[in-house]
This record gives sequence, C-alpha cells and structure tokens, in this order.
Amino acid sequence: MKHLLKMLDLSKDEIIDILNLADQLKYELAHGMEHKHLAGKTLGMIFQKASTRTRVSFETGIYQLGGYGLFLSSHDLQIGRGEPVEDTARVLSRYLDGIMIRTFDQEEVETLARVGSIPVINGLTDFCHPCQILADLMTVREHKGALEGLKMAYIGDGNNMANSLIVGCLKVGMAVSVACPADYRPDPQVLEFAKGYGDQFLLTEDCLAAAKDADVVFTDVWASMGQEGEAEKRRLAFAGYQVNAELLSAAKPDCMVQHCLPAHRGEEITADVFEAHADEIFDEAENRLHAQKAVMVTLMQD
Ligand code: CP
Ligand code: NVA
Repeated sequence: MKHLLKMLDLSKDEIIDILNLADQLKYELAHGMEHKHLAGKTLGMIFQKASTRTRVSFETGIYQLGGYGLFLSSHDLQIGRGEPVEDTARVLSRYLDGIMIRTFDQEEVETLARVGSIPVINGLTDFCHPCQILADLMTVREHKGALEGLKMAYIGDGNNMANSLIVGCLKVGMAVSVACPADYRPDPQVLEFAKGYGDQFLLTEDCLAAAKDADVVFTDVWASMGQEGEAEKRRLAFAGYQVNAELLSAAKPDCMVQHCLPAHRGEEITADVFEAHADEIFDEAENRLHAQKAVMVTLMQD
C-alpha cells in the first residue's frame, strides 16, 4: 500500500491490518507507551474545505508519532492561485514525507499521488472519505467484537460517505443496505462494485426496508460541503430520510448509530437518537485519530 486514495484500492487484508495497528496505537497511547514511529517525519496537510476532526486528528496524530504536521490552507498556497497540482506534487515531494489532502475533485488527489513521489492520504473529496470509514470500521469492531456478518444500513445522501462505506463494509464481509432518493444515488462506479456482492447489497428508496435487522445505522448530512446552494432543494428531497426512533425500531434492538459529523439535528438525525447514541458517535470521532495514525505509520514508516 503506497497511498490511501479510496477504499476501492484497498484489499480486505490491508483494511484489517490498519484496524489492528490502530487498536495497538490506541492501546499504547492509553497506557502512556512511547510510540514515536515517525520521528522526524513531516506531513503536509492541504485543506481546500473546512474541517474540525480531520485537521485536529491528523495534526495531533503526527505529533504523537514524533513527527510534525504543516497545516496548508489552499487560500495561502499557490495552488489556490492556479499553480498546477502536478507542480505542487513535485515541489512538496522534495520537502515532505507525506501529504494529506482534503479537496473537491478526486482526480486532484489521484494526480498528486501519480506525479509526486511521497505517500498521499485522501482526507475527503466529493467522491469519498476513506479515513472516516476506517475509523467507523474500527468503532463498529470495538463495540460489536467483529465485522463479518454484520449488517450496515446507510440512510440519506448517496455521497462521499455512502461511496466509501459501501465499499469498505462489503470488503470486510458486512452486508450493506442503502436508502436514498432516486436522484441522489451513490456513484455508478461504487454501485458496479457492489453488484459483485449479490444479495449482500441492497439499494432502495425505503428507509425501513434498509434499516431492517441492521446492526449499525449510519447517516450523514443532506447537503455536503460545496452544496450549500442546494440546501433548500435537498431539504425537500431528503424529507423522510431521517434516522429517528421509528426507523431504529426496524433495526436490531442493540443497533449502533454512527455519524461522521458534523450533524444537523432535526434533518438527517433526530436530537433524541443522536443523544442516545452519542457515546458511539464520539467514539467514532475519537477513532479518527487512531485509525489515521495507523495509516500514517503504514505509509510513512521507513
Ligand atoms: N468527519 C469529518 O471529516 O469531520 P471534519 O469535516 O470536521 O474533518
Ligand atoms: N458528506 C460530508 C461529510 C463531512 C465529513 C461532506 O462532504 O461535507
């Protein structure tokens, strides 16, 4: 594994290896054990979109590993004034040991990896959010003890989260059902991938059918970053695609709820469901730190 660009690129073994290392790093941190596996290494963190969790967990993570993180806002970089991503890749490869990038176009991340000579980590694009899914899988495994055989239900927009969740969960042996409006389906490439899993995958417009007997219910905002102008139209399109008490009554009684955050209470999730499952949701947010440290060690250690 040279980069983390999208879940489609990872094998099941690579995913499980990262989760195992993440568990180990979490244990080492909790027990005050030294784990400076990336001493002296530098990670550049390019942000073309806002972030709370991704920025803070990467910056803290590289510091805990003995390295240094540079926050690079696209407003300040020449990339924001039109310098080609290819040139940025070649320049940054001369200074840094790794790059994390959050941007719009998946192609930009792929180009950075192709042209540069250092590992690239996708910190979210319009297409996918692999770091989030690794943290989600880690959290589900912590709470449920295993992944294989569980059912994940995703309710809402067929967006970057849905695209990554479908691929990641199917690869580790979970069944996945997705409920979304017909005009907001996941990416065709992802649906093509899911087809290969037969009845392990269900795409429906019926939220209750998707949630039926689920072990985990996942949701995300109706309007993602960059879609602010469509927020009103989307509010209408997604009415009914909400994680609420009625929806959870179709799931297993011990069903977990996951949300990548930030959450919009009263839209994709009700406040009461959010609060009832807050421990699981904030465990998931915490696990961003541990999962991403595992990714950095896997990609950047000598
Ligand atoms: N879930 C997530 O990626 O959060 P941020 O947008 O705050 O980084
Ligand atoms: N789908 C959301 C996820 C945020 C972590 C977005 O892209 O804004």
